[in-house]
This record gives sequence, structure tokens and C-alpha cells, in this order.
Amino acid sequence: MSAQILAGEEGISASVEILRRGGVVGLPTETVYGLAADAFQSLAVAGIFEAKGRPLTDPLIVHLPEAVWLDRVALFTSSEQRQLVETLASAFWPGPLTLLLPKHPDLPDLVTAGSDRVAVRVTSHPLFREVLRRLDSPLAAPSANRFGRISPTSAADVRIELGDMIPLILDGGPCEHGMESTLIAVEVNGGGSLSLSILRPGPITKDQLIQYGHVVLPDRIVNSPGSLPGHYAPEKRLQIINADIEEFIHNSKNECGYLAFTPPPQEIIKRCAVVEILSPAGNLKEAAANFYGALRRLDISKADMIYAESLPEQGIGTAIMDRLRRASHGSIHGTGHRAGETSVK
Ligand code: TXA
Ligand code: MG
Repeated sequence: MSAQILAGEEGISASVEILRRGGVVGLPTETVYGLAADAFQSLAVAGIFEAKGRPLTDPLIVHLPEAVWLDRVALFTSSEQRQLVETLASAFWPGPLTLLLPKHPDLPDLVTAGSDRVAVRVTSHPLFREVLRRLDSPLAAPSANRFGRISPTSAADVRIELGDMIPLILDGGPCEHGMESTLIAVEVNGGGSLSLSILRPGPITKDQLIQYGHVVLPDRIVNSPGSLPGHYAPEKRLQIINADIEEFIHNSKNECGYLAFTPPPQEIIKRCAVVEILSPAGNLKEAAANFYGALRRLDISKADMIYAESLPEQGIGTAIMDRLRRASHGSIHGTGHRAGETSVK
């Protein structure tokens, strides 16, 4: 694990230097840590795929410091289209919303895996934005984990995931949201309104989007590449329990790890090898911020199986359950459903 972790001015200038030379660095965002490279240097972008072990068919999100950079990576066919997207952008940027837009032909095809659409976002993290401004080039950055694994929400997590593959991680503290950005495909309809298809639920919820266009929910739309069951997964088996957890754990032959939303009864705590509580007060935002870290701790604990409590599917709870279903590879006790059938495709 040779990656250096640097903070502040020292970290910013070292990051910019490495990125300028075509290197790859770990950078903080308000959602999860990203693995960044200059989006206009194809070789650098190839370094992201290599470090993550990510298939070249899975496109990357492009990060900008301001919406005014949109024309560098997206191509608008009319001023009306541009204006509608700008309205949306000014409502949510900087922030955890990623927009899928028509791609600018100059942006290397490797970034979008050959697709004619590009996913773009403006993070609110001041360190990431400062790196972008100084580099003066958009950055391609997926989450800084090995492909399919648990997303990192701290610099230390990035080092665990990719410490042998990258030279530097810029430490921006723990991530505020702890859950990847909401990803939406944006289409302009004939009548000049927007159609917003949620491809990945995240911190910006359906209810927040509704006033900006017609919102198409995830279970009615096709797969986004990379949004597969089996993503965001721990090494250990994880099962979501919708039934009576007490009875279930009582009958289990495993050393149980339990991922609880709120504090469980003493009986459960006594029977489990490890218990992680996402939010003592039952707050979904707090649960999201703690989610990946708790999953990571359970994964390295002495438990040989992880059971997870279902959370309410309201607000960011929808995104947490989406990630839990993928992490469980469809193993849900109490409903009989498989992940691919019940959640976001
Ligand atoms: O919060 C986030 O979005 C974080 C931070 C680092 O910005 N990034 C992130 O990137 O989660 P990643 O690569 O782990 O997930 C991006 C998702 C993938 O499922 C990818 O397939 C999809 O967005 N995606 C990216 N570009 C796309 C495109 N052109 N068309 C369709 N899907 C795309
Ligand atoms: Mg990811």
C-alpha cells in the first residue's frame, strides 16, 4: 500500500502535478472518493480502468468545476436544450446529481466506452473543484474502489482498495453523503419539457426532481452499464432480512454480522458476532453516510455471514436499498424476490 495520503495545499498541488503528467489520483467528493484522471488524456483514462480492473465497456463520469464548462464535454443541438439543462444544473450543482447528456465529439471515446452520451457532474467538494480549476481540464472519475467492490468514503478506504495501484490520495475528510450521486438521463421532449430517467438512485431524490420535468423511475428503464446486481459488494455473503430478524438470527448456524438501521434489541446484539448500527436516531441521511464504512468493517470482521435489515424506501433510503440489493446478489429473505427483479436495473 504505497499510495501517499496528503491533505490541504500540499495535496492539491501534488494532485495537479500528477494529473497533468497523465497520472491517476484518488480525490474526495461529497458522495464517495473518486479515482481521477484528465478526461482529455486517453492514456491517463486507460490508467483508471487498469487500476480498478474495470471493463472498458463501463463508462466514466466526467467532473467539472462549474456548469459553464459543459460545452467542453457535452454537445447541445439547440439553445433551448442548453437552457433547459442549465436550469436543472443551476438547481442542483454543485451537488450529488449526474446528468447523462449528448457527448462532445472531442471527448475521448474511452471515457464514455464508445457511447454518444456522457455522464457529467459538478461536485461540491472544494478540494476536488480546486484541483479541476488549476488543472484546467475536466476529470474522469469513477468511485475509487476495485471494480464491483465497496465504494470508499474516506482516504484510508481508498488506500485499502487501490493503495498499490496509485501514487497519491488527496484527503478531504469523510464524505458528506456516503452514497454515489443520483444519475439521470436527460431528454428534451418535443414540447420543450424535460424527461428525466433515474438510472441510479442517490442523494437527490425523485421528489426533488419532479418540478423540473417528467421523472421516469428506475424499474421502468433499461440497464445503465455497470449498474448490475453484484456491485458495491463485500467479499462475504450478504443477505437482506425482511422477516423477523430475531427468529432468523436465532436459527442461523453462522457467526452473524448484522447491519442494522437503528439499535436492535439486546437479544440480537447478544447472538451476533458483530453489529453495526447505521443511525442510532433512525435518520436515513446519517445511515447513508455510515453505510459503506459499516459494510467495510463487517466485511473484515470475524463474522462469516452478513445479515442486513431493510430500510424504509423513502428519500435516500431508496438509494441505500438499491446498493444493499446489489451487494446481496439478490439474496433476500422474507420476500422471495431477486435483486434484479425488485430494484433498479
Ligand atoms: O458520486 C458519484 O457519482 C461518484 C463520484 C466519484 O463522482 N462516481 C461514481 O462513478 O459513482 P462510478 O463510475 O462508480 O459510477 C458511475 C455509473 C456507472 O454505473 C456507469 O456505468 C454509469 O454511471 N455511467 C457513466 N457514464 C455513463 C454513460 N455515458 N452512459 C451510461 N451510464 C454511464
Ligand atoms: Mg462505482
